[in-house]
Amino acid sequence: MKLFLDSAKTDEIKHTLAMWDIDGVTTNPKHVQASGKSFRCVIEEIAELFAGTDKPVSVEVNPHLTDWEQIVAEGLELSRISTNFVIKVGASEDGFKAIYELTAQGVRCNATLIFSVAQAWHAARAGATFISPFLGWKDQHGDSASTFVREVRSMLDNFGYQAEIIAAAVRNASQMGDAAIAGAHCITAGVAVYEDSFRNPYTNMGEVIFQNAWDATPES
Ligand code: E4P
Repeated sequence: MKLFLDSAKTDEIKHTLAMWDIDGVTTNPKHVQASGKSFRCVIEEIAELFAGTDKPVSVEVNPHLTDWEQIVAEGLELSRISTNFVIKVGASEDGFKAIYELTAQGVRCNATLIFSVAQAWHAARAGATFISPFLGWKDQHGDSASTFVREVRSMLDNFGYQAEIIAAAVRNASQMGDAAIAGAHCITAGVAVYEDSFRNPYTNMGEVIFQNAWDATPES
């Protein structure tokens, strides 16, 4: 399962590339805003960090665009900046048409804001490379995120679609594990969520037990 960083902060991306060898990055307009830089500036900086690798960097089109021809035009323009770029397009009738056209022109797409199996199916049928169900948002409103991932995965497998599921908006280690078991191909989350997932109170407790045993062991 691939580990993507959900961020547009170049310092975070550099750190996680060095420490965790992340498999790629997903950005969105909120992350770009949080970077404090302009959209163009930040995506060019991120492109530079991944130049010469085959790691995907999802870059979202202007979310105000609702016409498929405009989405395609912007997607094509963005895709010329970097071969790593995967164009993130929101789920909608025009969005799916744009994914279809971009894919036909050799541009990889990530269908974002996916909340139903039907939307995931439209995305897969349109040729999306990645499909991003937003798990944290689902969970927050009482739906089972793991059931959703399992259902999307069955749909893809039933018909042999090649699209990969990115478990998105993951909020904690529990959702991460559930998504992995349910068959997500990739996870995307922020640095803090991953950092938290490295830890467990039992591990800390065990370390103390072993340190005490080590200290109480005679040296000769
Ligand atoms: C996924 O690709 C999105 O960038 C992301 O997970 C959005 O969710 P959030 O901003 O609520 O974390």
